[in-house]
Order: sequence, then C-alpha cells, then structure tokens
Amino acid sequence: MTTSERPLFVYLQRPDNGEWVVAGRYLPDAHAGSGSFRYAPSYVEAGLSWAIDPVNLPFVPGVDYPAQRYDGLHDVLRDASPDSWGQMLIRREHQLGVHATAIDFLRLSGNGDRWGALAVGESRKPHVAKLASPRLHRLDALVQEVLAIAQAKPAIDGLLRKRLFATPSMGGARPKATVQDGNDYWLVKPGLMTDTVDLALLEHATMQWGRRAGLRFADTRHHRLGIGRSVLRILRFDRRGAQRIMTVSAASLLQVQYPPVEAADSSGASYPRLAEELKRIGAPPEDGIELFGRMVFNGVVGNSDDHPRNHAVLFDLDQQRWRLSPAFDVVPDTQDDPGVLVMQVSAGRHDITREAMLQDYLRFGFATHADASDHFDALLKRIEDGYADIAPLLDAALRANMQQRLQTMLAKLRMAPVVR
Ligand SMILES: Nc1ncnc2c1ncn2[C@@H]1O[C@H](COP(=O)(O)OP(=O)(O)OP(=O)(O)O)[C@@H](O)[C@H]1O
Ligand SMILES: [Mg+2]
Repeated sequence: MTTSERPLFVYLQRPDNGEWVVAGRYLPDAHAGSGSFRYAPSYVEAGLSWAIDPVNLPFVPGVDYPAQRYDGLHDVLRDASPDSWGQMLIRREHQLGVHATAIDFLRLSGNGDRWGALAVGESRKPHVAKLASPRLHRLDALVQEVLAIAQAKPAIDGLLRKRLFATPSMGGARPKATVQDGNDYWLVKPGLMTDTVDLALLEHATMQWGRRAGLRFADTRHHRLGIGRSVLRILRFDRRGAQRIMTVSAASLLQVQYPPVEAADSSGASYPRLAEELKRIGAPPEDGIELFGRMVFNGVVGNSDDHPRNHAVLFDLDQQRWRLSPAFDVVPDTQDDPGVLVMQVSAGRHDITREAMLQDYLRFGFATHADASDHFDALLKRIEDGYADIAPLLDAALRANMQQRLQTMLAKLRMAPVVR
C-alpha cells in the first residue's frame, strides 16, 4: 500500500469541551481517484453527532460516503488543505512532481495551523501537533521570512522558516502566515513587490468599510514595517484561544469544485443558492440578509474575486449551530469597474445591476420585493457614508480610485428618479 492509499483518521476538536476525538475514517483509492468517508464507531458510541460537513457528510452512522469531487477527496477535507501558496511550499519541501494530488496536499500540510477544527493522521489516537504560532512582536521577522520564501531566497531565520514549512495548510493564493496576539490568532498577508497598488492597505480599508456599512466583516489591522512594507492582518474566526472552530467553505456547501473544473462548478456558485443552504443547515434568517448585503457590497466596491472559497460558515460555539462566518478577502479590483461578480446574483445572472441583485429576493429571505428594495437603498446609503470614514486610511491614488468607483456604482445601482 502506498502512502497515498493508507487510511487517514479524521480528528475533530469537540466544539463543546475542546477534546480531540476521532470523528471518522477516510479511505482513499489513489488508482481509482476516489475515496470514502465514514463516521467512526467510537464517535457514534460516545454519543457524538456533530456533522463535519452538514451538506455532504450529514451524521449517519455506518454510511460510507463516496467523495464527489477533488479526485476522491471530500470537500471538507479539501477545505482543510492548502491552495496554491501552501501547495507551492509542499511541492518545494517534498519535491513533488506535477502528479501531486489533493490527498498528498492534505497529508503533507501538517495539523498545526489547519483551517477549522479538523485534523488528520494515520493513528487511531488523535495526535495533533500544537505548533505555537509566532507572537505579534515577531511580525516583522515573520513577514520577512514569508517574503523570502515567496522570492525563493534562502532562510533569514531558520527556525521560523522550518515552522512555516511545517504548517502550510491555510488556503488562498497569496503568501500568508498566522500570528498570535494574546488569545487571538491573526492571518498575516504582506503586500508584495509585484502589487501595482498597495493591496494590503486596500484590503484593510475595504474590510473596515464593510464594518462601517453595518456588515459582519472580520476585523483587520494594518502595519507599516521596516522601510514601509505594507502588511495586513485579519482576525481568524476559526480560533477562540486554543479552541478550533469548525468551518466549511461555500464551495463545499454548494457542492461545486473550486477552482472550477466543469461548467456545473461555475453555474452552481450562487448567492441565492448559498442563502438557501444557510437556511437548510439551520442558520438564522438574518444570515441570508447579511449574505445579500455582502453581495451588494462586493458589487459596489468592485470585488470581482468573490469566489466560493471566499465565503464560509462556522459552527458557532455559543449557539451550537452553523452560522455564516464573518466576511474575508474582500478586495476591490483597481483596474476596471467590474460588470459582473463570480457568484451568480440571481438565477443565471452575474451582472452587478439593481434588477439582477433584487430578482431572487425571496431566496435571501425578504418577504416582498419592496422590502428588499428598501434594504438595498438603505445599504447603499450606509456604504456611501461608511466610505467617508475609511477614505482617510487610503493613500491618494487609492482614494481617487475608490471615490470614482463609489460614485459610478451608486449612480448605476440607485433607483432612477421617477420622471413625472
Ligand atoms: N479571518 C479569517 N478567519 C479564518 N479563516 C480565514 C480568514 N480569512 C481567510 N481565511 C481562510 O484563509 C483562506 C485564505 O485567505 P484569503 O482568502 O484572504 O487569501 P488569498 O490568498 O487572498 O485568497 P485568494 O486565493 O482567494 O485570493 C481563505 O480561503 C479562508 O479559508
Ligand atoms: Mg481568498
């Protein structure tokens, strides 16, 4: 049996008492490009019943679930694996060729910093390496090391580099790492030399803008380090101290592969469908309305990278139910005013227009078109007012850019005055 065919135990940090347990067993079949998951008998016998993915893996003891996507890896395990940044680290560390699979990346990405509350291993007893993230006072060193890796330069701080290569599991394309500040964990995203504008600053300002507009966005901080390096950090919503919080991406909830491999993966990524899934997995109605707000915000600011891995749900510890996670990775496209969003805004439509965004109002949970329309207008006003608060955060170039964007989009999205 090759490494890629050995069963993997799937560990879960219990959302009630923080204990690590075996939730299930994942059995890959590398030849067939398939895999199956089953909840562990010990999990069932202990009376535990949290579904690790409420859509694709509902808790049913004894059922073998075949994986539907990612060449045999279940969606939620793919969520706990890296995207291109972490994959690049793993390829380098393990000299993997082009044939590396999603399963290889899951196995080799380490449990120390995984997204959400899942971990994997070959032993029946959960061993989850608790690699302490660097502390905030080491932010400068951390950023320098991440950037040195991105530029394929030798290590500046050998220990730090080792730690980063041991925990390459977080998703996304851009270089990143986690830093600890007291009980809080923050995702660190440094600006890059190749950025044509100060993207770290723009992301910070946009995330703060969303908060000012009354939307539930993850909190952020912005730093200037050393000779002016721009660095963003975002509060991780999948951590509360040592407790890891279960998460599932919208790609998983919508049963689409991301990046897409077939037409159904693109057409299935939809805001109103996601709103329906939220309802189905027990999130309260306000989450559907919040999602609608984020869709409109993405349209106004021109965040055209709103793909289904940039939305997620988490298992709320206090309420013991699934909720829409705080918004993250909301960054305007500074080149052109986007005309479409990645996710459908209503059935079959991606266009950033008032008509398209309001069309499926029922699916988001509004009672009438008029209610949705009023909400839309109130939100546009809050976005406009919020901009005044965050504009001073931006540099002159970004300010001009965003001012223009806001005016254009407000003019486009506001209801045309009735001519009598
Ligand atoms: N505040 C947060 N709390 C917990 N997890 C987060 C948070 N922000 C991002 N993530 C996770 O980290 C991943 C990467 O973050 P992010 O999307 O910001 O990076 P990126 O490299 O800009 O992504 P992309 O490839 O979409 O451009 C996300 O897909 C999500 O799984
Ligand atoms: Mg992202």
